[in-house]
Amino acid sequence: MYDELFDLSGRVALVTGASKGLGKAMSVALAKAGADLALYARDVEGLKAVKAAVEEVGRRAEFFAVDVLDKACIDRSVRETLSTFEHIDILVNNAGVNVRKPVLELSPDEWDLVLSTNLKGYFLMAQAVVPHMISRCRGKVINMASILGAVALPTQVAYASSKGGVIQMTKVMALEWAKQGIQVNAIGPTYFETPLVAQLRNDPERFQFIVDRTPMGRWGQPDELAGVVIFLASKASDFITGQTIFIDGGWTIW
Ligand SMILES: NC(=O)c1ccc[n+]([C@@H]2O[C@H](COP(=O)([O-])OP(=O)(O)OC[C@H]3O[C@@H](n4cnc5c(N)ncnc54)[C@H](OP(=O)(O)O)[C@@H]3O)[C@@H](O)[C@H]2O)c1
Repeated sequence: MYDELFDLSGRVALVTGASKGLGKAMSVALAKAGADLALYARDVEGLKAVKAAVEEVGRRAEFFAVDVLDKACIDRSVRETLSTFEHIDILVNNAGVNVRKPVLELSPDEWDLVLSTNLKGYFLMAQAVVPHMISRCRGKVINMASILGAVALPTQVAYASSKGGVIQMTKVMALEWAKQGIQVNAIGPTYFETPLVAQLRNDPERFQFIVDRTPMGRWGQPDELAGVVIFLASKASDFITGQTIFIDGGWTIW
């Protein structure tokens, strides 16, 4: 009986930013729990590799070249995804970028890139997918936030603003769709070793600052998101909505 709580067999998960990093790790984790995958990103070579990784664990994967800044492309791809898989049960809004600069040095275009990708992209994806979920009275939306949605660091003005926005967006979506069978939650990771943070990972001083600042004394590994994403995608979390679960080795508790 308890196995069924986390079983995603027969479910279809759409993951954005699925070409590498945490999106790749979460796609493989969802597949291991039984889900088939619709993989969205721009880099087709990366998407092909993730499709192969999903197929290796015995699940179906199809990829779609999607820019989450392009509403027409999103709408067309969601229609194609529905005709390919017939339904979408889980939406993981994960595509994200960062530009780290002091407030006075960040250009308006850099601000727009981060806010549009990390916040408006999630909004557009939800607008395209959730009406379908509402029509079936079930669905799980999982938004990637960050510890920087709750705590601050210098040079993170655009990123922290976007991730704080993701946490609030998650609550509003959760409220609006609570009675329609849709649960909306967010994941707030600390620093995980992916291409997004390679620059920090390769800077010994920054790397050590993050280790020292983390109660558990280390960075996260992408595989460590598996438990939380499967939980939020599964029946096990059916009475949980509007929450952000921080997966951060204790960073946000002090
Ligand atoms: N790694 C961390 O330490 C960390 C910590 C907290 C939160 N996060 C969040 O977790 C998410 C994934 O981060 P990551 O570390 O895995 O980053 P990553 O390795 O740089 O991957 C980012 C993904 O987003 C996609 N993407 C970016 N812009 C896009 C666009 N306009 N349209 C479609 N896809 C786009 C990229 O795909 P293409 O380039 O192929 O389009 C890529 O698949 C982000 O939301 C990030 O803010 C990461």
